[in-house]
Amino acid sequence: VQRNMSSMSKVYVTRQIPPVGLKILQESRQVQYELWDSDDVPVPRKELLQKVNGVDALLCVLTEKIDAELLDAAGPNLKVVSTMSVGFDHLSLEELKKRGIRVGYTPEVLTDAVAELTVALLLATSRRLIEATHEAKTGGWGTWRTLWLCGHELANSTVGIFGLGRIGVAIAERLAPFKVKKFIYTDVEPRPELASLINAEYVSMDELAKRSDFLAACCALTPETKEICNKDLFSKMKKTSIFINTSRGGVVHQEDLYDALSTGQIAGAGLDVTVPEPLPTDHPLFTLKNCVILPHIASASYSTRNEMSALAANNLLLGLRAKPMIKELKL
Ligand code: DGY
Repeated sequence: VQRNMSSMSKVYVTRQIPPVGLKILQESRQVQYELWDSDDVPVPRKELLQKVNGVDALLCVLTEKIDAELLDAAGPNLKVVSTMSVGFDHLSLEELKKRGIRVGYTPEVLTDAVAELTVALLLATSRRLIEATHEAKTGGWGTWRTLWLCGHELANSTVGIFGLGRIGVAIAERLAPFKVKKFIYTDVEPRPELASLINAEYVSMDELAKRSDFLAACCALTPETKEICNKDLFSKMKKTSIFINTSRGGVVHQEDLYDALSTGQIAGAGLDVTVPEPLPTDHPLFTLKNCVILPHIASASYSTRNEMSALAANNLLLGLRAKPMIKELKL
């Protein structure tokens, strides 16, 4: 039985998400949603503040800051915020908790896609693939040369993981067949269960920096991890090591990274995330041959983005029904 419109919950969706999620909302007959009908530009803040007024739930992506101002603009009806992301640094958890608003997010469904892309970025950086295709296309390819475009190999290497969660484990599982010698990791505390899956040793941040031939940042961005990859870390790394970041740009002090890369303190960096996003095309990091920059695409596979969309929609509907969500953030 179709409920009449007035008994339906009001939802604002801040982006044209993959259709499967919208279809779930529609077919639930539980909500009436309004949509910022573009995937090319984010909804302007002013418009967002107007549109959220009086809604029961909000489905957002990582470009929307969900803070006190927005929650005040939404008002007391707002019960659920569902983000189509595993990251939640764009959400003021404290403000959400204060208001008793439940939060859905999309972990796990993107782990494989992010791990796969991280391996691709690591190899592209360490084996200098972007430089190489550029040389091949632009006439730099002379005779076969003995040391030209040499990089660093994974075989016999030590791979360090900064922040061992599901994604760090999935990256290590994929790297192991490349004959990595040793996995090490650091985190706020040892994670023996996850570590045992990849036979990884818990070390201090200092040791992680010193011993890693490849260092991958896989942590969440929190006040504790903000700019934690800075000159202190880079100065302890080997000149031959490669830094990879597929977490959040905010965990890196970008000026320090630029200095480390341009002075040869470390051999290279592969970044899927930056501050800001998009990174302006005249940013100094783009001038460096030993820095590979991707436009935040780690979870960008069709199947994963569809799963994220569906999960975000289902989390939202369950939250509105006061049921446990499939994936809910503990506040
Ligand atoms: C996330 O989900 O947080 C990623 O950064 C985008 O998929």
